[in-house]
Amino acid sequence: MKIFLDSANVEAIRSAAELGLCDGVTTNPTIILRDAPGKEHREVVKEIASIVKGPISVEGVGQKKEEIIKEALEFSKWAKNVVVKVPITREGLAAVRVLEKKGVRTNVTLVFSVSQALLAAKAGASYVSPFVGRLDDAGQNGMEVVRGIVEAFRNYRFKTKVIVASVRSVKHVEEAARIGADIATIPPKVYEEMWKHSLTDKGIQLFLEDFAKAKGMRK
Ligand code: G3P
Repeated sequence: MKIFLDSANVEAIRSAAELGLCDGVTTNPTIILRDAPGKEHREVVKEIASIVKGPISVEGVGQKKEEIIKEALEFSKWAKNVVVKVPITREGLAAVRVLEKKGVRTNVTLVFSVSQALLAAKAGASYVSPFVGRLDDAGQNGMEVVRGIVEAFRNYRFKTKVIVASVRSVKHVEEAARIGADIATIPPKVYEEMWKHSLTDKGIQLFLEDFAKAKGMRK
């Protein structure tokens, strides 16, 4: 499973990229406002693209097909690896068909059901982003929706990749991997928790103590 960072925090992205564990980045207007307040989308995306070679998702505000296409063509000039996030609406689906034919990769976002994901795949989207955390917040089971999308895409061998988004916990990441989702896009806080375990810390401490004891005995 590929790991994307769901962030516009350049320091967090750089740190993950240094480890070789950042396969891509996803943003949206809320993330850019939160992580890079006062900065232009263009400036932020170009900075991220100087660090990460993998796909970088960027979202505009256009709602009509022609507006979405215009914005997307502008975003794709910013860096070679830009992927354009398009909301799953009638206009969005129409824009996806055109953009993918023009060679602009799209990530159909705000996906909350298998049927939405199916239409995005049929429209030729490169990625779909089901929002698991927001589904859980609404009293549904976000990971069950992901399971359904992965199953449906396998049934018909769609090439569209599934990005598990709106990730809130390490458990979400683990379930995404068990289901076989292509990608999980992870907030830096959750990513930092992935290699931590209290028994690992305890184990390291014990080995250090025992090493010191053994050294003491040799004197
Ligand atoms: O990638 C989409 C994701 O950022 C949405 O997350 O936490 O705002 O539901 P959240």
